[in-house]
Formats: sequence, C-alpha cells, structure tokens
Amino acid sequence: MGVVGCGSIAEIAHLPSITKRKEARLVAVCDRDEEQANAAAAKWGAERHFTDHRAMFDHANLDGVVIATPNNSHRNIAVAAAAAGVHVVVEKPLAVTNTEAWDIVGACKDAGVKLMVGCDRRFWTHNQWTKQLISDGIIGKLLMSRGSLHEHWYNYQNHVARTEFRLDCKVSGGAALNDTGAHVIDLLTWLNDSKVKRAVGVARRMAMPESYTQCDDTALVMVEFENGAVATVSCNRFSPAVNQMTELCGTEGTIFTATDATNPFQSWPMAVYTNKDFTVDTLPEVLSDYRWPELFWVEDIIDEHVRKRWVPICPPRRPNNYERMTEHFLDCIINDKPPLITGEDGARAVEVMCATWKSMETGAWVDLPLTEEVTPPYYEPPPKEA
Ligand SMILES: NC(=O)c1ccc[n+]([C@@H]2O[C@H](COP(=O)([O-])OP(=O)(O)OC[C@H]3O[C@@H](n4cnc5c(N)ncnc54)[C@H](O)[C@@H]3O)[C@@H](O)[C@H]2O)c1
Repeated sequence: MGVVGCGSIAEIAHLPSITKRKEARLVAVCDRDEEQANAAAAKWGAERHFTDHRAMFDHANLDGVVIATPNNSHRNIAVAAAAAGVHVVVEKPLAVTNTEAWDIVGACKDAGVKLMVGCDRRFWTHNQWTKQLISDGIIGKLLMSRGSLHEHWYNYQNHVARTEFRLDCKVSGGAALNDTGAHVIDLLTWLNDSKVKRAVGVARRMAMPESYTQCDDTALVMVEFENGAVATVSCNRFSPAVNQMTELCGTEGTIFTATDATNPFQSWPMAVYTNKDFTVDTLPEVLSDYRWPELFWVEDIIDEHVRKRWVPICPPRRPNNYERMTEHFLDCIINDKPPLITGEDGARAVEVMCATWKSMETGAWVDLPLTEEVTPPYYEPPPKEA
C-alpha cells in the first residue's frame, strides 16, 4: 500500500491502520512537502518516500493507495492512480465538483481498479448495527431522518490539521457543506438505502470574518430520496461543542446514534425504540446482548413480552472505525469484493453538495443527477490531467 498526503488524517487514521494489518505492507508514502514525506516514512516504516504521486505510481509497484490530500487534488491523483492500475481509497469529499467526482469514477471503472471513498462513519459499530436493524424492519419504514456534525473551526484547524487548506476556499471548495457535510450526507444516504432525488439548502459563511476564511461555516440541507423519504443535514464550524447525532424515524420505531460526541440529552451512543412485539427470545441480538442496564429485562422475563421502551445500547469501541475501514478495503483487494462505499456513492454525495450550491443561486429545489458542472463559490479547479 501507499499513502499520498502525509497530513493529519493519514497520521491519525490511515498509516496506523495500514501498518497494523498483517496482510498489508506500507511500501511508499508521498507528500509534496519532502520533510513530511520523509518523517512519515521513518515513523511508519515505509520503504520509500516521494514528493510526486506520479513518480510513486511509476516506481513503487503498489497494489493500493490512500489519497489523503486537500480536496482540489483528489481528482488528478485518483485518475493517475487508476491509470497506473492501483486500487484507490479517496478521502471524503471524493472531489469538489460533480464533474471531477464522475471523472474519478469513470477512470477507475475504465482501469478496472477498485475505488472506495473514506467515509469512515459507515464503519462505526453503531452505524453498522443501525443499518442492520433498519433492514431487519425493526423501525418499520424509515421516512424521516436528520444528521448533524458540528465542530468549531479551531478544534481541527488549530490542533490537528497540518496545512491551512480548509480555510482556503480556492483549494477546499467549501467547509461545513463538503467537509463535515460529506460524512452526514453519506451516512444518511446509506441508512436510507436510496438515492437522493433532489436537494435544497443554505451553505454560507455566517460566523467567522472573511479575513479568516471565505468558506461556508454553516450548512443546512434538505434532501428527498427516490424512495420518498426525507432528511436534513445540519453542519456548522462555529459552535464550540463538538456534536454529532443521527436520528432515524420509522413508522415503527426510532434510532438515535452519536459517534464523535455524545450530547448531554443523549447519554448513550445508541438508542433504539421499537414498536414491534418481541419476547426475550425473539429480540434481535443487538438489542438483547448490548442493551444497558440489564435490570429491566428481568421484568421482561417475568412478563414474557418485552415492554416497549427506549433501549440504550453501548457498542464496543474496538476495533475503531478506521481500522475496520482499512481491513475492509484490503479484503476487497485481496478477495475481489466490491467496496462498501463506492465511487458512485461518493460522486452522488458531491452532487448533493453541488445541488445545494446551485439552490443557493436559484432559491429552489435542484434535481439530481446534475446536468452541468457546478463549481462552488471561490473554488479554483486545477487543470484536469489525463
Ligand atoms: N475521514 C475523515 O474524518 C477526515 C478527517 C480529516 C481529513 N479528511 C480529508 O482528508 C484530506 C486531507 O485532510 P488533512 O486534514 O489530512 O489535511 P492536512 O492539511 O493535515 O494534510 C494534507 C497533506 O497533504 C499534503 N499535500 C498537499 N497537496 C499534495 C499533493 N498534491 N501531493 C502530495 N501531498 C500533498 C500536504 O503537504 C499535507 O501534508 C481532505 O480531503 C480531508 O477532507 C477526512
């Protein structure tokens, strides 16, 4: 495996996860900042380091690569990886414009390489259990959901990020909508098991002065899925409390999950309410084995039927979401399986972002798929390389 971009997410997530796996070997790393590349190679034991991804693809003989560079570079690096026959994980957002995103999908398809988008939220245990419970019908028909991810600029920017690309809209193409929003859009789309039909929303800078950034720090988007369900996406980069929450309302129950932070009103990372009539013996495994506390289940044993109530659930922490994501991608390469988060998923998420930008201009719902390239405000797309 190789990694392009040895910045914060590579250090936190990808490099430790790859180097932990027995079935993988970290062959090369690449960063345009030679010091970063050199330091990452030394720390994580990569055999070689490069400052140009093309040189790495030409000389390192990789099976797979993780692209963890600023958003504007994803398209050209991923297309080059595909041309070199290398399987690719691209960090979210897959790209900035819809055309860039579909270029990546097309290039990987033409080259016959696997493409996965780094939407790690799908690999949190509670989100995977939620997906399973929904498809098992535990909350009936999912009709309405909302997801939020609020995280102040300073949290990541001042303490974790290696560069200031997020603040520069010419490079990042946005913030609340395509940085944190990328996770929420992906998670809600996956859990709703449908494609977004249309979107409308607001994404703009509301809190920070323009001298700090021109990027949007507030995004509120409403989407309607092809199956008729509706959802809202809410993200900001100004409220100091980190806050992530997903609420999924079905005709026969509701599920709440929280990953990055548990809110005071929601003291468990996952909670399920189901209207279904279960006995202790027929409860789904997640509800019977991971509910907490155990005490009230004693009453259920006496009554035989499980009373209807909120069930707090505490999923195990390990292995973490990134480790599971890496394990999955390696399994896809080794055993020729399709990745959980496909390129099409990533491109459709970018379409939702671009539709939101367009709806800011028109004040109306925007249908997907888009029929023209939408370039977010201030974004300066680099020339497209073949
Ligand atoms: N999944 C997540 O939760 C998550 C979290 C953080 C970042 N990300 C995504 O990962 C990507 C990187 O973000 P980050 O926070 O790690 O950024 P960062 O600023 O910490 O690091 C970026 C690194 O990429 C290098 N770089 C820039 N252009 C390059 C190029 N053309 N070739 C090689 N190296 C290059 C920089 O020198 C730097 O070392 C972004 O797309 C971001 O949205 C995802």
